[in-house]
Amino acid sequence: MTSAELPAELPKVELHLHFEGAAPPEFIRQLAFEKKIDISRIFAPDGSYAFENFVHFLQVYEAATSVLQTPEDFAQLTRAVLEKSAENGVIYTETFLSPDFCGGGDVAAWREYLHAIQEAANRAEVDFGVIMRGIVTPVRHFGPDQAKRTALCAAETAGDWIVGLGMGGDEGKGHQGDFAYAFDMAREAGLRLTTHAGEFGGPQSVWEAIRDLNVERIGHGVRAIEDRALVQELVARQITLEVCPGSNVVLGLYPDFKTHPIARLRDAGVKVTVSTDDPPFFHTTMRREYDMLAEAFGWGMDDFRALNTVAIDAAFCDEDTRARVK
Ligand code: ADE
Ligand code: ZN
Repeated sequence: MTSAELPAELPKVELHLHFEGAAPPEFIRQLAFEKKIDISRIFAPDGSYAFENFVHFLQVYEAATSVLQTPEDFAQLTRAVLEKSAENGVIYTETFLSPDFCGGGDVAAWREYLHAIQEAANRAEVDFGVIMRGIVTPVRHFGPDQAKRTALCAAETAGDWIVGLGMGGDEGKGHQGDFAYAFDMAREAGLRLTTHAGEFGGPQSVWEAIRDLNVERIGHGVRAIEDRALVQELVARQITLEVCPGSNVVLGLYPDFKTHPIARLRDAGVKVTVSTDDPPFFHTTMRREYDMLAEAFGWGMDDFRALNTVAIDAAFCDEDTRARVK
């Protein structure tokens, strides 16, 4: 099947979407203008986000996020993000939310932001038909102590909407195990666990995520392909990878889709899913990811249906919600 033959309306499940990272540049520019914050340095002449490498990407991301200041800003962003998701055929999305950017890790403030986001998500579900659930996100380069505060926010709001804890940020900083306390707190509160690993951290970071954090999903994880024993371990433990091929290509992990290891991981028996990570930063959408995979690997409807079944089964939502997505 060529990409042109893929039905645009194929229902899609996305498990790895950074909420602030999904903010369209024009949305961020408008807020910056209204609040008189000068972040012109983060935009290219054509208006898109501009960054040179992964660490610079994280800096640009945080500068963009600095204009999101009130619960109302986040409510507006929720609607904008979910409208785009729905346009791409997404029916269920798990979104990384950072209390660090919503009140600095203070539980009472976080509750207010979360309330605004949830209300907007409920309205968007009715209007656009896309279900959103939240995964609270410690930012790794903010360190283990801040991660504990973030995990407390997660534990205090755990339920059928906040369904998980998932660490993002700079994999070059510290070790996964440094954050074990935060992950243990979340697990005890009934949250499901994922962490970014095997993106810039290499296979060792995936081993640490399994051994030290005991996660059931991994954000990216693609560099597991460099270690045969690790691939076998992922298969044996039935760990699901939240793979974001377009993100990996733009950030320079692989030169193009054809050389991306997603097909090899899948063929080795690893559970793989497809997501966009930070779509406007990487000039991508869920529809484009599917198109590029169809073109690179000849994947067709059966492959994408199977991919979505893996994603639905690995979603952190409750069974009632899963049944609505199936
Ligand atoms: N935060 C937003 N996008 C990220 C990525 N691709 N890796 C790590 N942290 C992130
Ligand atoms: Zn990510």
